[in-house]
Amino acid sequence: MRRKLLVGNWKMNRNPVEADGLAGNLRKLLSEATFADIVVAPPFLSIPAVVSRLKHSNIEVGAQNLHAEASGAFTGEISGEMLKTAGASWCIVGHSERRQLFGEDDRLVSAKVQACLRAGLRPILCVGETLAERDAGQVDAVVSRQVEAVFQKLNAEIAATVTIAYEPVWAIGTGRTASPEQAQEVHATIRGLLAKHFPAFVARTSRILYGGSVKGSNARSLLGQADVDGALVGGASLVPEDFLAIVEGAR
Ligand code: PGA
Repeated sequence: MRRKLLVGNWKMNRNPVEADGLAGNLRKLLSEATFADIVVAPPFLSIPAVVSRLKHSNIEVGAQNLHAEASGAFTGEISGEMLKTAGASWCIVGHSERRQLFGEDDRLVSAKVQACLRAGLRPILCVGETLAERDAGQVDAVVSRQVEAVFQKLNAEIAATVTIAYEPVWAIGTGRTASPEQAQEVHATIRGLLAKHFPAFVARTSRILYGGSVKGSNARSLLGQADVDGALVGGASLVPEDFLAIVEGAR
């Protein structure tokens, strides 16, 4: 069976000093939660402090973004190799905030997934429709396009190492969660896409996370769906007790 994966996306919150404190609290609170995989993704600058605080714990560290190139004249950017060297082992790619606020398109997102793989980072590819797209009946078309843009460049062995996070844009930071049935429907569509393009083991083993206003109160019902293999958590991941309640929902 697929082991559940819970990822905390801290977004642009917690400076290195604050991040050290939060990581210390999470380490204590989540030490017994060995039934699932747990990752936290602090801002770039806070990664070293968090890596150091979580050393030899059951919590791994990820980044929220990276540049598509390994090095060069890209002022202000951070490469996958740098993140890996700093101790990150995962990287979120194509979050809807990156797509909407920073103009990332499918092509760039695909290049960034490739950059993760070259650097030895495990990508978490975010996909999801806006409210307007949902209302227009385009959920499957949008999500399929976003997934296929990345997976068409991958062979089966590599594809099976990429985690997908379905995050309906209208559910992110809004307090409005997809119902478990709505999430399951899209997750099943995504797994069906993997089954269509790759040998059966890829769809069987790939983890598909749900994200968008996940809380302690809705985590268990979302995580109980057949094709929901974990959660990508924003706001609630900054509050150790709230994140613990979500992790407990995966037990
Ligand atoms: P949220 O964010 O849990 O605060 O809705 C989720 C995300 O952006 O990954």
